This record gives sequence, C-alpha cells and structure tokens, in this order.
Amino acid sequence: MNSARPFSDADLAFVRSNFPALNDSWVYADNAGGSVPARGVTARVTDYMSRLGVQLYATHERSEEATRLFYAGHAAAARLLGADEEEVYLGASSAANVRLLARALRPMFAAGDEIVVTDLDHESNIGPWRELAESGATIREWKFDRESHELTIAGLDAVLRPRTKLVCFTYVSNIVGVVHDAAAFVKRIHAAGALACIDGVAFAPHRRVDVRAIGADFYFVSLYKVFGPHLGAMYGRRDLLRRAKSQNHFFISEEAVPNKFEPGGVPHELVASIPGILEYFEQLDARLGPGPAQIDRVFDAIARHEDALTAPLLDFLRSRKGVGILGRPDADRVPTLAFTVDGRDASTIPPLLDAGNVAIRYGDFYARRAVNALGIGERNGVVRASLLHYNTPAEVARLVAALERAV
Ligand SMILES: Cc1ncc(COP(=O)(O)O)c(C=O)c1O
Repeated sequence: MNSARPFSDADLAFVRSNFPALNDSWVYADNAGGSVPARGVTARVTDYMSRLGVQLYATHERSEEATRLFYAGHAAAARLLGADEEEVYLGASSAANVRLLARALRPMFAAGDEIVVTDLDHESNIGPWRELAESGATIREWKFDRESHELTIAGLDAVLRPRTKLVCFTYVSNIVGVVHDAAAFVKRIHAAGALACIDGVAFAPHRRVDVRAIGADFYFVSLYKVFGPHLGAMYGRRDLLRRAKSQNHFFISEEAVPNKFEPGGVPHELVASIPGILEYFEQLDARLGPGPAQIDRVFDAIARHEDALTAPLLDFLRSRKGVGILGRPDADRVPTLAFTVDGRDASTIPPLLDAGNVAIRYGDFYARRAVNALGIGERNGVVRASLLHYNTPAEVARLVAALERAV
C-alpha cells in the first residue's frame, strides 16, 4: 500500500523540529487524546493575537486582513477534508459539532424513521443521535463484533431497514485502532437509501482524509488531534447542509454555510492558524520527493513510519501473558494500541510509567458503551498507548521498556 520511502533520520529530525513541545524529556504516547501543535500553527495564533486586535468585516485595512485570515483558515480546513469551503463548518470540538448537526437535521426525521448508531463509537457520534428518539425517530444499534472488536457489514445488515434514514459510525475506533472499510459501509448504507455520518477523528492524524472518495454525507475531525488548534471541523454534503435548519440568528441566511452553523462565531485566532497544518504537510512533502505537493505521498510516508513504530509495541504486547489487545493485531491499523491486563485495574498501570516520563493513559476514552459491552467498565477500561509520526523508534523502545516493568 505504501509507496513512499521510509523516513530517514534527517526526515524525523525535520519532523520533530516542527513540534517544539516535543523537545523535553517525556515520551508522548497519548496522541489519540490530542497531538502537539505544529510550529506554524502556534506561530499563526501568536501573530494573529499580537497584531490583529480588530473585528472582522470592517472596512479598514487591519480588519480586512483579519477577515482574510479567518476565511483562509476555513479554506484550509476544507482542503484537509478534501471538500469545498461551503461544505465545512468549524466549532469548539467534534462533540459540539455533531450535537449542532443533530439539531439542524432534526426536522428531516418523521416519526418512525430510523437512525442507526453503533456501540463502538466515541459517545459524540451516538448520544446526540439517540436524543432524536425524543422527536419520534427509532434508534437501532449496530453492534461491533465481540471477537474482532470491529464493525462489520453483517452487523450493519442486521440493523438496516426500509425506513433507515441515517447511519452513524466510526472510521477508526479510538480504543481499537483498526481501520474500517468505510467506503464499503457507505456503499451499503446508500444502497439502503440512508445517509452516512462518519467519525473520522481517529483516522485523520494518520491517513489522508478524502470525504468524496468514501462517499461520506457527513464526516468530522478534531483539528487538535491533527497538529492544529483546539477546534473541530464538520463536513456535510452541500445540498444537505443547505437544507439543514440554521443554528444561527434568524437574519443569517439559510444559504450562509458555514455561518449558519457557527452561532456565536469560532475563535478567530484559532481559525487563522489552520493553514499551519497544511504548511507543515507541504514542507514535509517537499523533503520526500520532487514536484508539486502531494498529500498522498506525505501520508504514505507517515503510515509507513507509524507501522514501523507499531511493530515492536505490538510484538511486546502479544508476547506478554495476560495482556489482551483490542482489535486484531494483524489488521490494517493506526498506531493506537489499547489493552487489558488480567487481574489488573487499568488505572494502576499508567502511573507506573509516569516515573520514567512516559505518558500514556487509561479509561474508556468516552467509548463508554464499547467498554461496557466488553465487560471491563468496572476495571476502568483499557490502557492506551497511541503514537504519531513524530514519535521515534527510541521513544517506542522506552515505552516498551517501561511497559515491561509495569505489566
Ligand atoms: C474517535 C473520537 N471521536 C470523537 C471524539 C470527540 O472529539 P472532540 O474532543 O473534538 O469533541 C474523540 C475525542 O477523543 C475521539 O477520539
């Protein structure tokens, strides 16, 4: 799958030079919780805040610049998703964005219409949809396979009905780490006459996002997990967003996407920083080969490096008696590894790594229903180590050595 050359030591040094916060004694291995921001992102926040203490949409020069940077931020978010500007809105987080979308789509559902949610997703893509039952929608649950911990077509087929209007699922679970065949799911969902809302949060830091290629109707990512500011970005098919009910003041036009989905506005300095993510990818790409920037090439190289980082961690966990890894080890996966240890409460393990300055975490990571379905809620869920392409083989060796002492 990966055609790019592997990262050289010099590439990795370049990568890390773009993340000043990594320059300390800690191994950051809780990246599925949030990544460190790229240098170009923090620089843009600082620049905006130190120079542009003005309001948008005024006629003077400074305001014009601020307005331009604000829209350039929106455009960059759309590019990251492979979408057009009027198909993406921004908000404080993905959880907030989905909640807003569910409210905006509420009039689309008649009594008896059906909505499918999974028991694997982060709660942000479950709870807001389940609440539509209050308006008469019937909610069905697409259960993940209890052996593989994956969502499957068979599981989907078991819940699709003639009145299914919407199916909400995760591309990659934040505790299983396996990449679902989202395009195949979408095909099945569309064939059943329903729409698909995809949680792309745990996929986006690792692979190229292309909402059109997988045929998503709605798709969301959290930019603070993709080297960006603490914002969420929501894609919606143009015609669907146009039809959805405005969540803004009555005088904001129904045609005005994204404004109609950004009530109260979005922090301007954070939006203005989003091009810093793309700038980083472009600079990395320029090192990897000649010609115009190719986002595919960057993500091929990233996936290849991440696979190399994952291998020793997986080997170690598989070799350890009593350790149960979530998801098939040999599946196509991102470097997020969650596990349980027989007889141990998950909360007892990360503190043992803190002493060696290795940061991991335990819990349900808001995939509460999945953790309960696995019967490990009482034991504080799973221990999760999650890597990104800025991690190094030496850091993984430290992580494995620390785990060797702890489990
Ligand atoms: C897979 C997944 N989906 C959704 C979310 C929610 O994202 P946000 O924190 O932007 O609301 C998270 C956050 O951890 C996540 O990991």
